[in-house]
Amino acid sequence: MNIITFDSDDKLNEAAANIIIGQIQTTPRAVIGLATGGTPVGIYKQIVNDYQRGMISFRDVTTFNLDEYVNLPINHPESYRSYMNSNLFDHIDLPASQCHIPDGNAADPAEECRKYDEAIELSGQVDLQLLGLGHNGHIGFNEPAHALIKGTHVVDLAQETLEANARFFDSIDDVPKQAITMGVGTILKAKKILLVVKGADKADIIKRALHGTITTDCPASLLQTHPNLIVLLDSAAAGKLA
Ligand code: GLP
Repeated sequence: MNIITFDSDDKLNEAAANIIIGQIQTTPRAVIGLATGGTPVGIYKQIVNDYQRGMISFRDVTTFNLDEYVNLPINHPESYRSYMNSNLFDHIDLPASQCHIPDGNAADPAEECRKYDEAIELSGQVDLQLLGLGHNGHIGFNEPAHALIKGTHVVDLAQETLEANARFFDSIDDVPKQAITMGVGTILKAKKILLVVKGADKADIIKRALHGTITTDCPASLLQTHPNLIVLLDSAAAGKLA
């Protein structure tokens, strides 16, 4: 595990963008796992800047997003499809047919999950998976539980997650109660994982995730078992690490 702490948000975003771009420069047909939430917004901005400066092309890249809300219209501003379009996809040359996000409006969600796993399998291994961290230790939308599910599945969102994501909606009642998420088995199969965590409000959970007991009560703690984990933190998130 390689943990790097940054004293500025710009430097952290630049470092994360460089890791993603470096992966694509060495593997033009790279398969990249993407995340949403507040944390990666600045990283995507940096990637778009680098693209506009001609540093990188996404022509041959394939992406798989971690998750999507269930039953939120695809064109809703808070759907993860809208988020990805406005923060990244609309600004780079990644062909639409090569970016994958689970369809949270699928008539048959179980079949949608099966097809998503099949598409990931067919693309080969995920070369680099970008991850954020939920306040309760979730990765993707894999919430703390007695047992975790390996593959893509429908999940009931935890109360803490509804509360954390209420800031993106008019009220907590508008936050979708379910999501489709990649499972921890798929996440851990990525060749390399880039975990990015920002803010003092994540200081306790990142300490638990990186140095605590490996337990399904803190899904991110399973990342300790990954052979190629890079963790980028701002100094506030790193505040409780020894
Ligand atoms: C969200 C997403 C996760 C994300 C996490 C943290 O709900 N499903 O993929 O990493 O919660 O989000 P944020 O970066 O906004 O704190």
